[in-house]
Amino acid sequence: MSKDMDWSNLGFGYIRTDQRYVSNYKDGSWDEGTLTSDDCVTISECACVLQYAQSIFEGLKAYQTEDGRIVTFRPDLNAERMIDSAKRLEMPPFPKERFLDAVDQVVSANREWVPPFGSGATLYIRPYMFGSNAVIGVKPAEEYQFRVFVTPVGPYFKGGAKPISVKISDFDRAAPHGTGHVKAGLNYAMSLHALVTAHNEGFAENIYLDPGTRTKIEETGGANIIFIDGDGNVVIPKSDSILPSITRRSLMVVAESVLGLKVTQREVLLSEVKFGAFKECGLCGTAAVISPVGKITDHGEEFVFAAGMEEMGPVTKKLYDTLTGIQMGRIEAPEGWIREIK
Ligand code: PLP
Ligand code: COI
Repeated sequence: MSKDMDWSNLGFGYIRTDQRYVSNYKDGSWDEGTLTSDDCVTISECACVLQYAQSIFEGLKAYQTEDGRIVTFRPDLNAERMIDSAKRLEMPPFPKERFLDAVDQVVSANREWVPPFGSGATLYIRPYMFGSNAVIGVKPAEEYQFRVFVTPVGPYFKGGAKPISVKISDFDRAAPHGTGHVKAGLNYAMSLHALVTAHNEGFAENIYLDPGTRTKIEETGGANIIFIDGDGNVVIPKSDSILPSITRRSLMVVAESVLGLKVTQREVLLSEVKFGAFKECGLCGTAAVISPVGKITDHGEEFVFAAGMEEMGPVTKKLYDTLTGIQMGRIEAPEGWIREIK
């Protein structure tokens, strides 16, 4: 049974839940790990994460199905992406099977915090890892902490399914050959000024362009972008500095094999968007799910998608319904996508 809460009015914020998982890495190995009710972290004032931002994280969700089961969606891909992130930041990867077990343990220990089916809320799961020992010369830490906490959340963007207005950022998110393809805290630290700037101007998010030429669409601060062209097919921007979103990779499969749409992954020029090549646009990610974009503004020049500012476009809606149907157990999932938590 879920706790008695006003689940339908939750925003995307942190609520302290009961148990979290902690494992420490020291002398070349991870300890056995444990659940704890202690939500505070004690580390050196000179910890590598505090001085040089050696930190990586993941984001996934647990859902309650209509028949009351609790499930996670493709957590194996989060485990694998975290291993890739760890390698890029010279951190010791947390083993995949242990990652899956840690997530299961934390969700299971906080099952009352999993929002009820149909409430519009979900349980957000945040695995993360950081360099914990004192480091003053620039080098990787020797000790690390891996943690997982959970917090119930509502929609990432206020208004849920209502289309948002975004701007083309004047700032860059990820350099070519940089860290855009991994989930490192540093990618988000440098997005904060750009985000506050966008919010102050009345936009919900930034679309970042490729820093090399500033002509191609990459992604937003916290989600990948999908476009629907004039024939109702899906077009996905391609770049080595985009985070490989699990939601987006899943949507590509759903679009092709469940909905029979054509999916193309290619470089997408900002000029194509301005010339009206796409009828619908959406931001996709664990937090964003699929948030429709109604309008893109580039230095005062506005482009409104055909689907408008009132509701999700028809193809985006189909993708949304199918994906969330799979995640919440209403629609049969492809093999291996759903992990039930006992
Ligand atoms: N892109 C960025 C920059 C993100 O932070 C996220 C969030 O995880 C995504 C894309 C979406 O990825 P996923 O679908 O795996 O959550
Ligand atoms: C997610 O969707 O899990 C993210 O990490 C996006 C944002 C909350 C950083």
